[in-house]
Amino acid sequence: MRVLGIESSCDETAAALVTDTGEVLADVVASQIATHSPYGGIVPELASRAHMQAVIPVICEALERSPGGLSGVDAIAVTRGPGLVGSLLVGVQVAKALAWSLDKPLVGVNHLDGHLFAVYLRRPDQTARNAPSMPYVGLLVSGGHTALYRVEGFDDIALLAQTRDDAAGEAFDKAAKLLGLGYPGGPIIDKLAAKGEAGSVSFPMPMASRKTLDFSFSGLKTALARHVQTRGVPTGESELADLCASFQGVIIESLVRKSLLACEQEGLDQLVITGGVAANRGLRARGKEACDERGIRLHVPPPISCTDNAAMIAMAAAHRLVAGERDDLSFAVYSRDPDRKRGKFRRDGTLVERKPDVR
Ligand code: KG4
Ligand code: ZN
Repeated sequence: MRVLGIESSCDETAAALVTDTGEVLADVVASQIATHSPYGGIVPELASRAHMQAVIPVICEALERSPGGLSGVDAIAVTRGPGLVGSLLVGVQVAKALAWSLDKPLVGVNHLDGHLFAVYLRRPDQTARNAPSMPYVGLLVSGGHTALYRVEGFDDIALLAQTRDDAAGEAFDKAAKLLGLGYPGGPIIDKLAAKGEAGSVSFPMPMASRKTLDFSFSGLKTALARHVQTRGVPTGESELADLCASFQGVIIESLVRKSLLACEQEGLDQLVITGGVAANRGLRARGKEACDERGIRLHVPPPISCTDNAAMIAMAAAHRLVAGERDDLSFAVYSRDPDRKRGKFRRDGTLVERKPDVR
């Protein structure tokens, strides 16, 4: 089965053709970095407009690159949340229109499931398939989310812990903005950190207690802001590199420590690190070193599968589509993850009505 995946939850418009076994036949991503970088972050209104312009050309390009084009599409998968509502609507409406006019099954996908299952994609240039068997611990670390999951099956994912405030990617982006480095901050800080020495500037380790798996990055951001307030933004290249390496080093250490603790608590010896921040070279290297020391098998998708893409959305939908499932074309989008155990959303993303206040 060939699945057309469509992704438009944030600032990337993406379309991909993927087989139900994870073979990537075509993968196109149109980035909006140039649109948002003057603002140092994503402007939702501009993101929706850019998706409107890009979505049809991106889908056409993916179809042109895959054998059989549109006639080779057996099913469609689209991100329905979490994300920016105005952005999600663009991909979802195009996906619904395509499914309706072609009479093909359509499945709405949780973007976070996409990240967690990107590890099963096989790209043409990927020689060895580095795929874990389930169950595994999944660290999802992106611009909007930082969370640990126990992944038992494609439909059986338990949230173990998440950030209490900022996501790690958000911390990278805000730090880069503070240092006047540009947007998105992760890749810029990653590059600078490679030339610096971690630990040369001392930052507090967030949530250092072994009693919790939770993350927190807003205190670290404040510590960096204080450092910059008192000492200014470093003007020398090596000083700036040291600052970036130290800031990044604390994020990496926190992510790795909690992931290992999760493996220990869950009695699992496989760890998957995924999401945009998993493209970070320092995290990939430190994660490998720490996992090797403890006999944990680490699986990290190639960077192109870690950052937002539509191939992962097709992958996450494949098991449902193969089982003959399809969603009703009236399904809605959701901005927050319904799997967050806060009792406000059902699994399908619908809001749980609150009882009226009794006065
Ligand atoms: O998964 P993603 O593409 O989009 C979301 O779902 O959020 O993640 C984007 C985030 C951004 O915050 C970006 O700065 C970060 O991933 N990122 C990185 C790197 N590449 C992207 N962070 C650290 N190092 C990188 N190399
Ligand atoms: Zn993402």
